[in-house]
Amino acid sequence: MTGYILALDQGTTSSRAILYDDHARPIKMAQQPTTLKTPQVGFVEQDAQQIWQTQISCAHDVINQAGLLATDVTSIAITNQRESIVIWDKQTGKPLAPAIIWQDRRTASYCKTLAAERASSIASDSHEDMASAVQRITGLRLDSYFSASKIAWLLEHNPKWRARANKNELAVGTIDSWLIYKLTGGEHVIDVTNASRTLLYDIHKMAWSEELCACFAIPMTMLPKVLPSDGDFGKTKKGLFAKQIPIHAVLGDQQAALFGQGCLDAGMAKNTYGTGCFMLMNIGKEPKLSEHKLLTTVAWQRKSATTRPESLSFDQIVQSGRRMLQPPKKEVTYALEGSVFMAGAIVQWLRDNLGMIQQSSEIEALARQVDHSGDVVLLPAFTGLGAPYWRTDISASITGMSRGTTKAHIARAALEAVAYQSYDVLIAMQKDSPQPLTELRVDGGAANNDLLMQFQADLLDVPVLRPKDTEITAKGAALLAGLKAGLYDEATIKTSWQVDRVFEPKMSADIREAHLHKWQQAINRALSVV
Ligand code: G3P
Repeated sequence: MTGYILALDQGTTSSRAILYDDHARPIKMAQQPTTLKTPQVGFVEQDAQQIWQTQISCAHDVINQAGLLATDVTSIAITNQRESIVIWDKQTGKPLAPAIIWQDRRTASYCKTLAAERASSIASDSHEDMASAVQRITGLRLDSYFSASKIAWLLEHNPKWRARANKNELAVGTIDSWLIYKLTGGEHVIDVTNASRTLLYDIHKMAWSEELCACFAIPMTMLPKVLPSDGDFGKTKKGLFAKQIPIHAVLGDQQAALFGQGCLDAGMAKNTYGTGCFMLMNIGKEPKLSEHKLLTTVAWQRKSATTRPESLSFDQIVQSGRRMLQPPKKEVTYALEGSVFMAGAIVQWLRDNLGMIQQSSEIEALARQVDHSGDVVLLPAFTGLGAPYWRTDISASITGMSRGTTKAHIARAALEAVAYQSYDVLIAMQKDSPQPLTELRVDGGAANNDLLMQFQADLLDVPVLRPKDTEITAKGAALLAGLKAGLYDEATIKTSWQVDRVFEPKMSADIREAHLHKWQQAINRALSVV
């Protein structure tokens, strides 16, 4: 079978579209930036229409650039920034407000207060607090990072919208849900990996939690229908492309990267260095809860990979008997995740706010001007600290500067901060997971930074493997869509992953200890100040 997969990758700072051929090779990419707005301290928003328009424009561009027609495209795959939400009118399809982005902290104090309250109606025993109940049901933490408190805030601050929501006139969704709605002209659905980031989804029962929706006062009629990652998301509406293209796979971006990195077995892990840094480890078919402040999340849910009645002919189905007529099993794979809020965004801050560099790619050369960062530590708590600290109340700092400190020291400290944060996550992950990590697969823009990758391998003391194709997020979603379409087979996942470079740990234990001590001191100082 020949054909192309059109992968739409809607990230925090840009919309992209990549075309993959029948060997899962990327052949063309189109990209457009999106605008992040911060109208008040702690607020981070985007124009939902801009998200859609940039995304659809990239989709058309990439097909044109490749000299193809929409009729050459077999399926669409979607991967997206997670947790961010859009609210829209079910009748007109128009958004009521800007999208609230995952980095938005406007509900931080609300979440903190709620976390300490008795869980009452949802408690498993009389002592359980909300934070524990939320983790037990969703695998997540009661934090403003996730979608629930953002939706609750919108309804709380707009009483007319609450009244309309109660009358079933409004819809809410994550970015995948919004894009599918626009692509299909009305399907209100969500993929399960995105649902598992809302703080409203029960990852054991695999359904919206009525109790949590009640706690956050969110009418369930606003929520989309949850589908497996390779579910039936519908076809593009007539007139959008020259043919109606089916949407065959949808995954949150970090889950897509785990899939694209070929981390299909329990114990395998990847780290994506994007705006933030997200380390995910496949933990298999059981949703084990973290005891070390990490998240348990749905990695993917697939209709059975072995039973594929839709790809069989009528005769084959009849010959195979009734077994093949059973609805396919929906297998769930879970992951442990450590979410770090600032990674590439630290470099953007040095570029945009301090003017230290013109392009993000210049950071490596600047950092290499010095052999070490001296005593300088950049603590990147610009929006608080994520895993494993989960502190919204501390702020960013640069400490340890002297008269001799140059911008090269600060650049180096910035890169080191990315690696230190990932080290902290990995230590927590190793405490939670029975399997010791033997390698870490990396991707995302900053994975191309050799200095950072070597320092990461040195700190972790495990080999860091960078694949040839570091655009692994889009590829993960494309692979799943291609499998569903019958364009790829399971072996394609492994054969399409090729290593570019292995960073072996080289640092002596003494030097590693000295680095980690310096970082830990900076963390302790920040935690003790508040
Ligand atoms: O959880 C947030 C994450 O999905 C954002 O990813 O690549 O847009 O930084 P990215």
